[in-house]
Amino acid sequence: MNKKSNIAIVLAAGKGSRMKSEIEKQFLGLDGKPLLYYSLKTFEESEIIDQVIVVTNADRITYVKEAVVEKYHLNKVRAVIKGGKERYLSVWEGLQYLDNQKEKGNVFIHDSARALVSEEILERAYQGVKEFKACAVGMPTKDTVKIVNEQGFVEHTPKRSLVWNVQTPQVFTMDIAYEAYKRLIKEKVEEVTDDAMVVETMLKLPIKLIEGSYENFKITTPEDLIMAENLLKK
Ligand code: CTP
Ligand code: MG
Repeated sequence: MNKKSNIAIVLAAGKGSRMKSEIEKQFLGLDGKPLLYYSLKTFEESEIIDQVIVVTNADRITYVKEAVVEKYHLNKVRAVIKGGKERYLSVWEGLQYLDNQKEKGNVFIHDSARALVSEEILERAYQGVKEFKACAVGMPTKDTVKIVNEQGFVEHTPKRSLVWNVQTPQVFTMDIAYEAYKRLIKEKVEEVTDDAMVVETMLKLPIKLIEGSYENFKITTPEDLIMAENLLKK
């Protein structure tokens, strides 16, 4: 039986090396709760999301189940599975799980490090995937961006209004996401930094960028944690 739904793959299998803390950043305390909790809570309360798959480090699966999912009654979490060495390998684990379950519909691929994702963003992304089949959330860059050569000299300055910082969720129909990643793995392409890039390069499909928010930034370094904490208190 094929089911059609909106499923989130929440990525929490990184090491958080730029955070320079003992424990992985997705489990650091943010206003008293693990960072991972916040995006899961937004998905839990969302009108759009039906189910959630959490991808995490193999030795953290029990912790995630007990100290996050069960503790905070995150009932939409259907499975907690192990990730891979790189982000794209963690995504691939999630997509294979869904393919095994014969899931159809849309997949919302999200970095748990973007703890402050909102329902409004999920709604815009859902409209985006319904209309365009492949979309990613992002925001226009605030800084001017330079393209440099290997020696660090400026080669080109793209028009600022056309440069976006891409965020997550990145949302695709299941078919598109699975097919793009399947080819990526088969062709052993490695330097991928987001999901849109996989769909762009493997399937050459157009990807619509959808407005995210500046609050939906990726908690990466220690000062980001302070910023997120302040925003939560607001
Ligand atoms: N991620 C993952 N599996 C990996 C690497 C990253 O699921 N092998 C997840 C992270 O947990 C994070 C998201 O992908 O939520 C975005 O990655 P990033 O912010 O780069 O996190 P880390 O890779 O953990 O951090 P760093 O690059 O500083 O080590
Ligand atoms: Mg990383």
